[in-house]
Amino acid sequence: MRKPLIVANWKMNKNVDEALTFLHQILDELPDYDREEVGIAPQAFAIYPMMKAVSQTPLQIIGQNAASKCNGAYTGEISVRDLAAMGVNYVMLGHAERREIFKESNRTINQKLLTALREGVRPIVCTNGEQKMVGQHNSCYSIFRQLDNVLTGVPVSQVTRIVFSFEPTDAIGTGKHADLETAEHGCHLLRQEIGQRYGSQIANQVRILYGGSVNPNNIRLLMAAPDIDGVLIGRASLDADSFIQMMNYQQMALAQVM
Ligand code: PGA
Repeated sequence: MRKPLIVANWKMNKNVDEALTFLHQILDELPDYDREEVGIAPQAFAIYPMMKAVSQTPLQIIGQNAASKCNGAYTGEISVRDLAAMGVNYVMLGHAERREIFKESNRTINQKLLTALREGVRPIVCTNGEQKMVGQHNSCYSIFRQLDNVLTGVPVSQVTRIVFSFEPTDAIGTGKHADLETAEHGCHLLRQEIGQRYGSQIANQVRILYGGSVNPNNIRLLMAAPDIDGVLIGRASLDADSFIQMMNYQQMALAQVM
C-alpha cells in the first residue's frame, strides 16, 4: 500500500513569521498519519523554526534543495547532512525551476541524490517534460533520460526510499493543470520505466507524485488515478484554507469536484 504524500512547495515565498503563522492555522487540521503523509517545503532559513514548531506532529518539513557536498567552501549551498541533523526526512531534488533557471544537470542531481541517500534523507526526485510529449510514441524519451542519468549508481536496495514526481513543465505555475489522462499516463510511464530497471515489485512500492497547477478543485480527481500517489503543490499551497482543503482531499465528496 502506497501512502499518499501531499507536498506544499512554497518556493521563494513566506518569511519565518508567515511560515509559523501558517503552521498555527493548519496543524489542528492535519489528516490522520496512518492514512496520509503531509509535508511543507519552505525556504531554507525557515526549516529550523518550523521543525521546532512541528516536533510533536507528523507534519514533514522538507528541503527544497541540497548540495552534493556535505560541508566546506560552497558559499550559498545547503548541506543535506545538516538537514538530517535537524531531523528533516525529505529533500526535493531537480525541480524544474532548478533545472531551467539554475541550469542543474542530470549529473548534478545524481550527485545530490547519492549524497542525500547516504546521509539518510529521502529524495523527492522531480522529472519533467512537456505535456504534449506524454501522449506520443517514445514520448517520454527525455523524461526517461532524466531518470536514467539521475539514478546512476543508486543501489537497488535504496530505490524505494526515493519518491519520484512527474511535472509537465507547461503545467507548472500556469494555472492549467494537465488533463487527468496525461497526468496519470506520465506517472504510469514513470512507474513502468522504474519497473524495467528494478522489477515490478519495486516499481509497485515506489511513490510517484504529480505536480503542476494542483488546486482544491482538481486534487480529488488526480488522487483517484491509480498511478498518482501524491501531489506537489506550488501556488495553491500558499493559502492556508486552500492547503487545509487539499490535505484533507480524502474527505471531499467526489460529487463536489465533478
Ligand atoms: P504550481 O507549482 O502548483 O504552482 O504549478 C508546482 C511545482 O512547481 O511543483
